[in-house]
Amino acid sequence: MKAITVRAPSTIANLGPGFDIFALALEHPYIELRMELTGTKSIAFNLDGCREDIPDDPEKNCAGLALMGMFSKINSNTGVLIEPKKTIRVGAGLGSSGACASASVYGLNRLLELDLSHNQMIEIASQGEIASGSVAHADNVAGAMLGGFVIVKSYHPVDVVRMDVLAVPIVIGVMRKTQRTTRSFIPKSMDLALVKEQLAQCALVVHAIMKGDIEELGRAINKDHISEPVRSQSIPGYADIKRRLLDSGAYGCNVSGGGRSVFAICDEGRTQDVAAAMQEAFNHEHIDPEIIITRASNEGITEIAGE
Ligand code: HSE
Repeated sequence: MKAITVRAPSTIANLGPGFDIFALALEHPYIELRMELTGTKSIAFNLDGCREDIPDDPEKNCAGLALMGMFSKINSNTGVLIEPKKTIRVGAGLGSSGACASASVYGLNRLLELDLSHNQMIEIASQGEIASGSVAHADNVAGAMLGGFVIVKSYHPVDVVRMDVLAVPIVIGVMRKTQRTTRSFIPKSMDLALVKEQLAQCALVVHAIMKGDIEELGRAINKDHISEPVRSQSIPGYADIKRRLLDSGAYGCNVSGGGRSVFAICDEGRTQDVAAAMQEAFNHEHIDPEIIITRASNEGITEIAGE
């Protein structure tokens, strides 16, 4: 096989309280990448037709950086040309960089028949996140690679547990961050009383997913003492937006990944009401985000075509 086209889903990393360890894959949006082996030892991009502002310098591109690390570990005389065909909004906390890094590592693994394990590919892809101004973290890349709900149970070495999820309805107000990353504002330590609450919320997320209980999942993702207090500061009127979403029938809401998008979980029959409340709440703050109605998905990376 000389070329492959792969699809990878967007993800909600952290899923409320699970900072750097939880992620949930979504039905849409998703990315599609075509990758072709080349005779030159280089990583090149064809960004024609790409709506997003994606750098073509491999060191500044999540897929490029992940593949640089991958090529440095293997003995290969080939290079690769990457063509994004479909993209996810960049810098909005929907895992666009993780999806690109995961898809490119998966694609190269298939093209060069390296037979790497999922954990090995996730570890390599997690290094690509550094290009988005962040540190290496595996939650988005694991969710994109495997689909469903993932728990990064170890970082050294990377080891991920995956669980199937119900098609939980999710409404997202998509907004780009104003800064490249806000990770440096995350506190380095936490009061023990808050640690206990955080642990209880994380346990509740896992319990709700195992039970397939959407209402409990909503309550579980609704509270977080690590990311939400930091990321919500860049969302004007966040407390009011959250209250309006809960009043409209959402079971819970929080900031998606590194922000600034806001996601809410609700029953299938309430998605239009929650989407309308989200639109109204943001408009009240003079913000006009794209509103997406989607679902949790068990699909990770899929191969669309091989040539
Ligand atoms: N766990 C990551 C964070 C996800 O919160 O920074 C965002 O990429």
